[in-house]
Amino acid sequence: MSTAFRTIWTTADNYVEVIDQRLLPHQFVVVKLLSYSDAVIAIKNMTVRGAPLIGATAAYGVYLAVREMQESGHPKEFLTQAFEELRQSRPTAINLFWSLDRMQKALSIAYNPLETAWNQAHLIVEEDIETCRMIGVHGLELIEEISKKKNGAPVNILTHCNAGMLGCIEWGTVTSPIYQAKEKGIKVHVWVDETRPRNQGSNLTAYELTRHGIDHTLIVDNTGGHLMQHGMVDMVIVGTDRTTRNGDVANKIGTYLKALAAKDNNIPFYVALPSTTLDMTISDGLKEIPIEERDQNEVRYITGKTSAGAIEHVLICPETTAASNYGFDVTPARLVTSLITERGLCAPNEESILTMFGDLI
Ligand code: MRU
Repeated sequence: MSTAFRTIWTTADNYVEVIDQRLLPHQFVVVKLLSYSDAVIAIKNMTVRGAPLIGATAAYGVYLAVREMQESGHPKEFLTQAFEELRQSRPTAINLFWSLDRMQKALSIAYNPLETAWNQAHLIVEEDIETCRMIGVHGLELIEEISKKKNGAPVNILTHCNAGMLGCIEWGTVTSPIYQAKEKGIKVHVWVDETRPRNQGSNLTAYELTRHGIDHTLIVDNTGGHLMQHGMVDMVIVGTDRTTRNGDVANKIGTYLKALAAKDNNIPFYVALPSTTLDMTISDGLKEIPIEERDQNEVRYITGKTSAGAIEHVLICPETTAASNYGFDVTPARLVTSLITERGLCAPNEESILTMFGDLI
């Protein structure tokens, strides 16, 4: 990629650094994680966010816990506690649990726990990069097809939240096909849902599309349906935090409404995901995927930059008005056209998912 940077990396003294995504796009601040508690806090307060990046941060959190345990002579219960706190850090993205299970398994047979944790966390990161690149290879074919039908006119893609490189390590899931389309000279234009309440669309997706020189337009969350009714959207591509074995998709709150509008307007609705986001243990997304509920002040306040350049949080409702803040919703498989995975396109049903990913169970 032309403007390559990663979202998580290690330092010369073998600690871990991440970008404080709460401050983007106005400030680019790097945060150093020195302990597993730092990793827990970074995930909880959304310094880092996005399913794959949450998983990678948790993996390094385990490495930091092993390091602290060895350096301070803590008993092995220290590590058990670290795993527990990391598990509790956010509930919906399955990558967190996938990553912790993988670290636990590796450590259970480790001769040198510190080296094993370090190497395993690196592997998780490197694999995610390649996985996202491959999602792009398969997603690119879909964009290319539409571009041909439109005789090269820009392909209008609507996306929700940030399933870009900022939610992963590099490439992103939704953005990988878009970046690869650009590299191939295919014209694309992205409708960016602002994605209230935390505005991952306006703060993060718009930021990274700008960095990559991708033509895009920011819209409020309720605009998508109108655009679809007027032929201004060729395809929707969203990410996911957890997809069940029958293809139900949990993603940032509001995704379901976009899927309904896409269905009504006969517009393909794609979900880009690494296989690490599949939860093969459940089949009913509505009943079985835990939906995170976050602080009501994320809804009651909005954050932005004033004309004087200060970052401010301002109240947007009466002082006493209460708010509810569900972080995710579930889009039933019947509304999904196809899953775009690193192994190729996969129909959102149990048979196809098991055929393509049965080896992961
Ligand atoms: O609350 P967030 O910002 O962690 O939610 C992120 C999303 O919903 C993303 O779409 C999803 O994690 C996919 S990231 C490739």
